Amino acid sequence: VREDSSLDFSTRYATASYSECLRVGGPLIQPKAVEFAERHGLKFTIARCCSQGGTLAGPVESRFESVDPAPAPISVVLGGLGTVGLGVFRWFKSLPDEFRIVGVLVKDLSKDRPEDVPLHLVTDSLDVLLEARPDLVIETIGGTGTAADLVHRARSAGCRVVSANKQLLAIEPELLKEASFGRDRLVASASVGGSVPALETVGGLVAREEIVTIKGILNGTCNFILDRVNAGVSFEAALSQAQELGLAEADPHLDISGLDCVYKLSLLATRAFGELVTVDRITCEGLDQITAERLQKAKDNDGELKLVASAWKTPNGIVARVGLEIILPHQLLFGCTKEANRLVIETEGHRQVVVNGKGAGRWPTTVSVVSDALLCRRAELSVGNIRESERAKAS
Ligand code: HSE
Repeated sequence: VREDSSLDFSTRYATASYSECLRVGGPLIQPKAVEFAERHGLKFTIARCCSQGGTLAGPVESRFESVDPAPAPISVVLGGLGTVGLGVFRWFKSLPDEFRIVGVLVKDLSKDRPEDVPLHLVTDSLDVLLEARPDLVIETIGGTGTAADLVHRARSAGCRVVSANKQLLAIEPELLKEASFGRDRLVASASVGGSVPALETVGGLVAREEIVTIKGILNGTCNFILDRVNAGVSFEAALSQAQELGLAEADPHLDISGLDCVYKLSLLATRAFGELVTVDRITCEGLDQITAERLQKAKDNDGELKLVASAWKTPNGIVARVGLEIILPHQLLFGCTKEANRLVIETEGHRQVVVNGKGAGRWPTTVSVVSDALLCRRAELSVGNIRESERAKAS
């Protein structure tokens, strides 16, 4: 970016040819990567973290554009101040140039709030919040009541939406479609896998190759409980611990029944296979099916009893299931412990891609929500930029 102090704008490359990248890129650019891209005719974007837009590099002519070097933060309404909502609220304090929270929606106004949450921001009135015409609405309330109202009304009002609510997104086909195939109006990476880039990796892979199977450990609470039960702790004590650690859903039945995995699998499979894999197409078994015999059988085989979500292609269509399985040491899902999540994606070319990380808890999910919000911000500012340049052309 070249700054021009006589104007309030800077110029930067809107597009850059491969040779221009190599000529001016300096330490920002890996020459080998650019040469590789050129050999394969690939396009890529060069951008600073948190910046708007970026430079499109590829088989293009180089061209400059004007950008506002310090765009105003986008305005955000936050739904929910629970485990994840409060995490997002606190994280945004470190990003004042990027986000400005204009209101926080809560269900119960009479509840005590942490001291660092200014009370004038908190309301239970959706009408009041939407009057502020936010650019972005972040929904971390969960469930299908208030959360559904917030998401639908925000979308009708033209706001971008980030949601970590796998249940809501999976049970409403219109939202399932938008969260799976849309781009940056409804972003839901945070709804699956906590910090694990599960939806993102599936989306990136399927753009290049056909996916034939996805198989994963997608519920941190169940994985944590299974670990503890294996170590001799009672089921009830293990569940209480998971709740204390902020891993479980507000209604932990959603975790232990396997339903939370069903919702996540619906989103993943829809994106992987390009058709709506609604929850009614997924068979489900939960932790109530753990027996001493199953645990023993796993041990006898040096394996682990895990709650596994899988979906695969057959000549008769997609098959999808959530259930307990014994995972053996040679399998890629082996050794996924505590609240970790892991997803194995297999493509038609027998390529196996594995993503792994913390799948539940305040910070893993918060990281993912903030990253979705940053994606929306870039999209919002790019649109703003396009509007600016159209206005400039017209005048
Ligand atoms: N209760 C969920 C889990 C939270 O344990 O995986 C993250 O989606």
